[in-house]
Amino acid sequence: MSGRISIRRPDDFHLHLRDGEILRQVLPATVRQFARALIMPNLLPPIVDAHAAEQYRQRILAACPEAVEFEPLMTLYLTENTTGRDIVQAAEAGTVAAAKLYPAGATTNSDSGVRRIEAIRPVLDRMEAVDLPLCVHGEVTDPAIDVFDREEKFIDVVLEPIRKWNPDLRIVFEHITTAEAVSYVRSNSPAVAATITVHHLIINRNHLFMGGIRPHYFCLPLAKREIHRQALLAAVTGGEAMFFLGTDSAPHTESAKLNPCGCAGIFTAPVALSCLAHLFEEAGSLSRLEAFTSENGARFYRLKLNSGHLVLEKGNSPLQFRPLPVGNESIQVFDPGFPLYWDVAAPV
Ligand code: DOR
Ligand code: ZN
Repeated sequence: MSGRISIRRPDDFHLHLRDGEILRQVLPATVRQFARALIMPNLLPPIVDAHAAEQYRQRILAACPEAVEFEPLMTLYLTENTTGRDIVQAAEAGTVAAAKLYPAGATTNSDSGVRRIEAIRPVLDRMEAVDLPLCVHGEVTDPAIDVFDREEKFIDVVLEPIRKWNPDLRIVFEHITTAEAVSYVRSNSPAVAATITVHHLIINRNHLFMGGIRPHYFCLPLAKREIHRQALLAAVTGGEAMFFLGTDSAPHTESAKLNPCGCAGIFTAPVALSCLAHLFEEAGSLSRLEAFTSENGARFYRLKLNSGHLVLEKGNSPLQFRPLPVGNESIQVFDPGFPLYWDVAAPV
């Protein structure tokens, strides 16, 4: 069965592009689908101020294929040394859309992150005052807490205190994976919103161990039980305004993934819209795809909706995706486990 839909050009509100050669290799997959993306700052060293954000933004623009219109929206990486002045300068720069809280040790390159949330209270106050949104990697890092419970626990231990201290601070609960996070966001909207990834809409925790360990399905937060995946799917296909796309596409080379201490991260960018069109069609909700990919996020960030449209077409033969070459290495593209027929046709 073939098909064709046209949607407003989408935005990816959570994207890892890395730097150097990886950046040059992965960026084309994003710019053929997305008009803008919120760029994660967890480089080594991290992007901690407006100056570093601007330099990184320029490197991204320089890596863009010619004749492509793409706007990187930058984020600052919060550390316990971030100052109120850093926040004001970022807000004034006009190119920084948010600041990101990584609990130290929670994920890839988070060692410079925040150990005690109280340490950044003045920074949170300043963010609330200048209305710079806070993005959170929502997992506690206490080794005594089960890895599958770390997101739910984060709500009580970190999010709730921040909500009490700074009720007007706009918060994005990033890459949510649990039914508890879905309900929390619903009941704390509009100050709180959430990004949802493509992979968490497709895999549950069983996929990690299907016939053996599957490093290419390892990401953080980990995929959870099927009931949680169902809750995420219902949230996005229901068209609710507080949920929007952030792919968390996170490229790592094969040697970094297939390693005794392999990296967390799934490279979904090339298949992002193909997978989403498949899922929304399967749920009988294709008409709500555009809200999730192209409207809800822009409204939360108070950005203009993109002009221009993107056509998605459903063909008759499954798409093929090859690993991306990087030097003498490669990066595997996410395999959803079902054939993909939807693809981007052409921007109009
Ligand atoms: O799986 C993940 N990969 N989760 C994150 O939070 C970070 C990301 C990365 O940078 O590789
Ligand atoms: Zn991420």
